[in-house]
Amino acid sequence: MKDVRVGICGLGTVGGGTFNVLNRNASLIEGRAGCTIRIGRVASRRQNDRIELGDIPFSNDIFDVVNDPDIDVVVELIGGYDVARELVLAAIENGKHVVTANKALIAVHGNEIFEAAEKKGVIVAYEAGVAGGIPVIKAIREGLVANRIDWIAGIINGTGNFILTEMNAGREFSDVLKQAQELGYAEADPTFDVEGIDAAHKLTILASAGFGVPLQFERAYTEGISKVTPYDIKHAEMLGYRIKHLGIARRREGGIELRVHPTLVPKELLIAQVDGVLNAVLVDGDAVGQTMYYGAGAGDEATASAVIADIVDVARAVSHGSTQRVPYLGFEPSALEDLPV
Ligand code: HSE
Repeated sequence: MKDVRVGICGLGTVGGGTFNVLNRNASLIEGRAGCTIRIGRVASRRQNDRIELGDIPFSNDIFDVVNDPDIDVVVELIGGYDVARELVLAAIENGKHVVTANKALIAVHGNEIFEAAEKKGVIVAYEAGVAGGIPVIKAIREGLVANRIDWIAGIINGTGNFILTEMNAGREFSDVLKQAQELGYAEADPTFDVEGIDAAHKLTILASAGFGVPLQFERAYTEGISKVTPYDIKHAEMLGYRIKHLGIARRREGGIELRVHPTLVPKELLIAQVDGVLNAVLVDGDAVGQTMYYGAGAGDEATASAVIADIVDVARAVSHGSTQRVPYLGFEPSALEDLPV
């Protein structure tokens, strides 16, 4: 059994959280992984004063991680599309496994990345990209593997849910968004949160995992919360509804429908009561019926929890000399037809 060396790229909110949780719970995590997991190198444009690097090599060039022959797993936490794509493809080319929290990257470039990873026989894991700390990808791909999934619906942007919740309590949109940014919940470009783009990235990934279709972000109908007014919220309340920003993926005749938009949800439903930065994902399977996954959708250590779950998954495979695990995507020919969106 070999030690597994992890290289972290990006020391922002999630990078800092991952570093700290990996160190704090090192012996517990290693005991469960069945091997030693070491942080072999860290690279970031900026230092993070919440972490103590000790003697771990640090550089400002993230490609130093990818080019370090001792690194087995590259943890991509820089976010964004282009540099992250270049980094991940270079890591795969160098035979390294990849763990990422970058939903934008997976939703838009995932098909290319998975193809490259399959050719090289390496793993690309992205649990932290969807619903923060909630292990919903694992639940869908493994726990619900026996089911035909008919729909998936959920609150999958914590910032948006936080804003709607606080507006319901009478606060101003811009004021709450500023607080979400300060708390590290919002995307680098917060229009991704308020215009539904982040939720559409996540829905694309959920649909791919649930229905076995390729990632098709450009097919998702995407509408955010920026046009929701206090007046809308108040009137919804009077009629017995809460306004929730939902991502919905549904099997329809001829394809899979993907949509993200503010939705009137009857107040008495559990999902209507999910407030603040919390996320909740409902999955309907033919055998199990409806299941719901609920928890922190954003935040440093909550997201780190999912990043580290993926690191452990990869570490188990690496230390046992096998990268055989649940495949990235299973293709169901019937789901490949044009999506009626
Ligand atoms: N900006 C995202 C959210 C972060 O608020 O849900 C977690 O993906």
